[in-house]
Amino acid sequence: MTSQTAVPAIEACGLTRSYGGRTVVDHVSFAVEPGRVTGFLGPNGAGKSTTMRLLLGLERPDSGTALINGRPYAELRAPLAQVGAMLEAKAFHKGRSARKHLLCLAQSQALPARRVDEVLAMVGLTDVAGRRAGGFSLGMAQRLGIAAALLGDPRIVLLDEPVNGLDPEGIVWIRTLMKRLAAEGRAVLVSSHLMNEMAVTADHLLVIGAGRLLADCSTTEFIRRHTDPEVYATTPAVARPALLEEAFMRLTAHSAQFTAA
Ligand SMILES: Nc1ncnc2c1ncn2[C@@H]1O[C@H](COP(=O)(O)OP(=O)(O)O)[C@@H](O)[C@H]1O
Ligand SMILES: [Mg+2]
Repeated sequence: MTSQTAVPAIEACGLTRSYGGRTVVDHVSFAVEPGRVTGFLGPNGAGKSTTMRLLLGLERPDSGTALINGRPYAELRAPLAQVGAMLEAKAFHKGRSARKHLLCLAQSQALPARRVDEVLAMVGLTDVAGRRAGGFSLGMAQRLGIAAALLGDPRIVLLDEPVNGLDPEGIVWIRTLMKRLAAEGRAVLVSSHLMNEMAVTADHLLVIGAGRLLADCSTTEFIRRHTDPEVYATTPAVARPALLEEAFMRLTAHSAQFTAA
C-alpha cells in the first residue's frame, strides 16, 4: 500500500522568470498550507506580483513549476471553485454594475447566480451592487475584487496587496476577513510591502527581495530570529510585531543578493 501524502494548496518549485534579460523571480520555491494566512512580504519590485501571476498561469515561467492543488492552473477543472484571486483592483469592465460583473463571472464557471448575492453581502456591497463598477472608489473596487475571488467558495485565496490605498476601516475589514478565511481551513496567500500589516495579519511569512526567497517561516520565528535577542526578550509579546521591520532590515542587510528597490 502506498501512503498518501497531502498535496500543498500552492506549490512553487524553482520558479524563475526574466524580463528583457533581468531575472525578477529567481528560483523561488515554497509551499502554502491551508488554515493560516501566509504573508508574501517584500519591497516594491521584489517580484511578488510576478510570482502570483506565475502561480495562476497568467505568465509562463522560464523554468520551474507552479502548482495549485498539485496541478498547473491551466489543468484545474472549475478553477474558480479551487482558487480565487485578486491581483489588481479595478480589473473589471468599467461600464458594468458590480452585480453584472459577478454574474458574468459566475456564468462563465457555471456557478449559481445566488452565490453573487452571497458574496456581495459578504463584502458589504449589497447596497451599491447596481451601480457602475467604473465609478467605484478604490476601497469599493478592492471589495468587488475580493467578492470575485470568493465567488467559487475556493479553498485557496490569493490577494495581491489588498490593503493598498484603503482607509483604516477597510484595512481592518480585510485583515479580519483573511483571518476568518484561514480559520475556515482555507489557504490564504497575501502579498504586501507593508511590514506592520503583515506583522499583525500573517501567521507565516515568505519574504522576498530582488526575486529571491529570503525567508520561509512563522512570523513569530522570523521576528525572533532576526532581532537582537536582548531587545526581543525585553519586548512584551504583544508588542513584538513592531519588531518585524527591524527583523526585515537585518535580514536584507545580510543578504548579499538583496538590492533595495
Ligand atoms: N511585464 C513586465 N515587463 C517587464 N518588467 C516587468 C513586468 N512585470 C514586472 N516587471 C518588473 O519585474 C520586477 C518585479 O515586479 P513585480 O512582480 O510587480 O514586483 P512586486 O509585486 O513585488 O512589486 C519589477 O522590477 C518590475 O518592473
Ligand atoms: Mg506587486
